[in-house]
Amino acid sequence: MNIAVVGAGLMGHGIAQVFAEAGHPVAVYDPDPAALARVPERVAEIFRSLDADPAPASRIALHDRLETAVAGAGFVIEAGPERVAIKQEIFAALDALTGGDVILASNTSAIPIRDIAAKVADRRRVLGVHFWNPPHYVPLVEVVQSDLTDLRVVDRTMALLAAAGMSPVHVRRDIPGFIGNRLQHALKREAIALIAAGVCDAATLDRVVTEGFGSRLGVLGPLEQSDMVGLNLTLDAHRVLIADLDRTPGPHPLLEAKVAAGETGMAAGCGFRAWTPEEAKAVRTRFLDHLAREARNRRAARAIG
Ligand SMILES: NC(=O)c1ccc[n+]([C@@H]2O[C@H](COP(=O)([O-])OP(=O)(O)OC[C@H]3O[C@@H](n4cnc5c(N)ncnc54)[C@H](O)[C@@H]3O)[C@@H](O)[C@H]2O)c1
Repeated sequence: MNIAVVGAGLMGHGIAQVFAEAGHPVAVYDPDPAALARVPERVAEIFRSLDADPAPASRIALHDRLETAVAGAGFVIEAGPERVAIKQEIFAALDALTGGDVILASNTSAIPIRDIAAKVADRRRVLGVHFWNPPHYVPLVEVVQSDLTDLRVVDRTMALLAAAGMSPVHVRRDIPGFIGNRLQHALKREAIALIAAGVCDAATLDRVVTEGFGSRLGVLGPLEQSDMVGLNLTLDAHRVLIADLDRTPGPHPLLEAKVAAGETGMAAGCGFRAWTPEEAKAVRTRFLDHLAREARNRRAARAIG
């Protein structure tokens, strides 16, 4: 099946690589010529990092017009800017340019699928397909149905992703943040409240996660862990803890103040911690090297299996 990827940024080029390696012809569209021009080198770098044969990159074709990119596609995935008005316009154009049997997916991280599909005539064919960053290393994809999505569209999408080596899960409600980002931000909410209250500094908090329960999370989910230790223990902990957890009704004032002061993170040299450019680069390298190694290990295990 031909795949079209709309938006060739951080996510789009990685999604294109995933489908191309799985054997699909992939058409990539971006209105920004510079973004489009970077795709071949970015994709080549992914193949290098995975020690994989780069030949499938030749299945990726670049398009500066949406019309030609989606012509002949059976599945279109949008990875444009995270702005609802832009996504609505893209989906209105996709609706006009594609036949009714073509699946239209958005890689949005948080915008309700129903809103993105507002200008599509037949919304049964629209759903969320939320890849994580970087899509070529992180296997999970949240497949999000809106209350209008046809379940056969969900099934076809799950099968397409699984055949491409991804690990799709079905999210049955179109709620902000789906599953993964809700969990991630619930953790961030408490983390910010803890450092705001002076319980520890940001570096210590990150160590508690990465060297503590985070070191288990890749192999043991939180509900599996609860079942393992016994739900009575989880209940005892919740009786003591839940009422004490942060319940600030909006973004935490510390986060608001940092952003207002221009302390927006590594790129600014300061966020929850101060960063030199070298320190920031070291964190990015550590992060990408780890994910690439994990991806190579999974691929090797699949090849043996
Ligand atoms: N970055 C992440 O960690 C991450 C993770 C999961 C999902 N997402 C989601 O994926 C989507 C893309 O994010 P990204 O990080 O790749 O952004 P990005 O800014 O790197 O890429 C977006 C691309 O869309 C292009 N674009 C602009 N207007 C367009 C239009 N009208 N039609 C098509 N393309 C257009 C831009 O030129 C750019 O190349 C967003 O919805 C984002 O929320 C991002």
